[in-house]
Amino acid sequence: MPVTIIVGAQWGDEGKGRIADWLAEKSDIVARFSGGDNAGHTVRVGDDTYKLHLVPCGVIHPNARCVMGGGMVVNPVKLADELKDLGKRGVDISPGRITLAENAHLITPGHIALDGADEAMRGQTAIGTTKRGIGPAYTDKAARTGIRAGAMRRPDDFVEQVGQRIEQANRLLTDYYHAPAILPETTVDELHAAAEFLIPYLANVPLLLHEALQEGKSVLCEGAQGTLLDLDHGIYPYVTSSSATAGGALTGLGIGPRWVERVVGVMKAFSTRVGAGPFPTELPGADGDRLRGTGANPWDEFGTTTGRPRRCGWLDMVVVRYAARINGLTDLVITKLDILSGFDAPKIANGYVFEGRPMPEVPADYDTWLGCAPVYETLPGWPEDIMGVKSMGDLPGAARGYVSRVEAISGVPVSIVTVGPGREQTIER
Ligand code: GDP
Ligand code: IMO
Ligand code: MG
Repeated sequence: MPVTIIVGAQWGDEGKGRIADWLAEKSDIVARFSGGDNAGHTVRVGDDTYKLHLVPCGVIHPNARCVMGGGMVVNPVKLADELKDLGKRGVDISPGRITLAENAHLITPGHIALDGADEAMRGQTAIGTTKRGIGPAYTDKAARTGIRAGAMRRPDDFVEQVGQRIEQANRLLTDYYHAPAILPETTVDELHAAAEFLIPYLANVPLLLHEALQEGKSVLCEGAQGTLLDLDHGIYPYVTSSSATAGGALTGLGIGPRWVERVVGVMKAFSTRVGAGPFPTELPGADGDRLRGTGANPWDEFGTTTGRPRRCGWLDMVVVRYAARINGLTDLVITKLDILSGFDAPKIANGYVFEGRPMPEVPADYDTWLGCAPVYETLPGWPEDIMGVKSMGDLPGAARGYVSRVEAISGVPVSIVTVGPGREQTIER
């Protein structure tokens, strides 16, 4: 059974992109299934760094076909630009190799304006969205007023439809949000050009995947965001608006569960989160700053999409154990183990306390989350720089102990550990 699903086991930015790149080598098709350009996936190959927002990371391997599924919301102008930029860097972006699902929904300028206005109105309780129009686009999809990618086949009608949506958005912006209206004319030409450029990429993705699977081909589903940002299973309302968990791969691509062989949960060796919302193991002080880095290294914890500093804290295994359950993880990948080098006594949360009572699993509601304090166990640290280590056996004993503790607490085997952002810094068991 040839489907592998990659999901984030924390709050996004776990390193899914570089793992998708790694596993793409042995995959015929790599498919994104959810989210939009709120995602930022970084792949480092030699001296080259790729930051992808919509196109699956498999694109960097010349062999893999790349698919963007119907569960995604796609800004057509951003997608056209991303493809053209990849083309300029020598990546094969021919329509025969890259496909956009006809049933993916499109992000319009109205969605982006509404995202910003809604965040402004929330004030202190803002979600901290990426302001890419993600929430409003999924709102229109659920309200059955969205525009699907297939509409771009008739660019004139498509641009007219977008114009109508912008008029509707403007009514909301001015009357409800008391925000300035946006001007449709400024984007019409861009939208028209993007639609014309993208027409050859449009296809029936569920059919394409069905035929590939029947032929014995393998499909790698590249998740975006993370389990705790999932619309249903994350810490609502501090979530994104899509299904970022393993189930979302099936609905987002139109494939059945019987094909799924492997579900890989990617987790960082510590925790990070961008945007607002509960984060029990957050470290506001010096240890958090050290986990984040100053920005001097390309891998320091500043958002790939928005550049915002990420909130950092110790590894929360309550969250990872939850992700293992929600996604049915078959294996875990631990990234950024190298960042823990030099910490004398790294900590792992293995439970919470709420109002003086032990709370071994994640709470169901937001208010309880707010009152949860982590219960830590302290592990031995390791002073060595491990960025050049090539095998599990060559890791310091304490680093191996850290990995074993993750396996013991989650009940899931760790199949890959990474010790730096580069492809060659991937240790597969
Ligand atoms: P994604 O959204 O899950 O694909 O993750 P991002 O690309 O947004 O964030 C992960 C960041 O960590 C990127 O800057 C990666 O280059 C970097 N990274 C990934 N794995 C490692 C690792 O093992 N060590 C270090 N130092 N950096 C890593
Ligand atoms: P990747 O795929 C980290 C967060 C935002 C915000 C919340 C809602 O790179 O892991 P949205 O714009 O989606 O409505 O914002 O979700 N968020 C992410 N955080 N990584 C991401 O993607 C994210 N995509 C959205 O910061 O808290
Ligand atoms: Mg990211």
